[in-house]
Amino acid sequence: MADIVRACGTPLYIYSAGLVREAHASLEQAFAGYPHGIHYALKANSNLAVLRLLRELGTGADANSGGEIEAALRAGFEPSQIVFTGVGKTREELDHAVAIGVKAINIESDGEADRIDALARARGVKARVALRVNPDIDANTHAHISTGQRFNKFGVPIEAAAPLLRRLAGKAGLHVVGLHVHLGSQILDVEPLGGAARALAGLARSTRDAGLQLEHIDLGGGLGIGYDGSPHGSPAEYAAAVLPAIRATGLHLLLEPGRFLVAPAGILVGRVADTKAYPGCPRFVILDTGMTELIRPMLYDAYHRIVAVTPRPGDTHEYEVVGPLCETSDTLGHKREFGPIEVDDLLVVLDAGAYGLVMASNYNRRRMPAEVLVDGGAWRVVRKRQSYADLFRNEE
Ligand SMILES: Cc1ncc(COP(=O)(O)O)c(C=O)c1O
Repeated sequence: MADIVRACGTPLYIYSAGLVREAHASLEQAFAGYPHGIHYALKANSNLAVLRLLRELGTGADANSGGEIEAALRAGFEPSQIVFTGVGKTREELDHAVAIGVKAINIESDGEADRIDALARARGVKARVALRVNPDIDANTHAHISTGQRFNKFGVPIEAAAPLLRRLAGKAGLHVVGLHVHLGSQILDVEPLGGAARALAGLARSTRDAGLQLEHIDLGGGLGIGYDGSPHGSPAEYAAAVLPAIRATGLHLLLEPGRFLVAPAGILVGRVADTKAYPGCPRFVILDTGMTELIRPMLYDAYHRIVAVTPRPGDTHEYEVVGPLCETSDTLGHKREFGPIEVDDLLVVLDAGAYGLVMASNYNRRRMPAEVLVDGGAWRVVRKRQSYADLFRNEE
């Protein structure tokens, strides 16, 4: 890592291809006994090299915007491998998805269904659509990443789903192929995911009784990881929770994991820019990276382990690990124990492969960091650090 940092500088994201393959294999193994497709959720990490790696492993894609559809296409996914999700899709985004013929557009509302129908009829085609259902199930995760409760903006309430599906079945521009649900993210207890599977399986049964032939049930993403070492549902427990209900429908199962596949495979490396230790104040270690590169701790109170690359021997102390931005919330870790720390030391934020760079910003006119992919003994830069020329390119 020292070599990579010497060549590329900091802040720096480094991803391990091997760890992505491992996570993918564990999920595939858990669901091997049932026809399924993994549609990687690009929102977690849409670096094109990471996308190509996942495509080569055989995944499809879950895109959440026109930009993510573009990323999927550039990474070599076929339109028929892409599901298009997202609350608030624009007419332009929908028309593009209809034009290229994605595997399914996950419909969010009656109005969106009508807009897709009109766009498809104007093109003389039938758009493949699935209905995103809001089952009103608490996923027991952080409120900001909970999406499957009545008061969340996502999907159609489950009791409104059956009448809507019947209405959509009569639309000349729509081919209703599935049901979709996504309860939230960083879900540690798989039972709510099982509840969502049962709710959709029940809906699929009543839909079939009403004469509508579906192809798939898409259970979204959400499987969490152990950021702080606390227990979390394994792929095998996830499969055991959802498969009995899905198997009873006989429908193809789609999954949209993001975090599980890439979070543990990524680290964010920062260099110590300064330290402060004044009587009566916390000890601060100030990195050259913070909320502009990784906003999860500030946005979700998320915990990430932080480790020193070369720990120094000596007394340990409690530190506030902070970034360089003009925001008090720019804190990556509270009360973290370290031995002596000196300026220019490297600290590493673990499990930063998901919702890291994709949520980065240019706040304080900071430049987007570089990204490196390590594969076996080799590594390469898969995204260059933004230059000042890049930063100002589009301004008058
Ligand atoms: C519709 C949808 N699918 C999949 C995901 C991926 O979730 P995760 O990264 O938790 O697996 C998300 C993330 O919020 C989502 O909104």
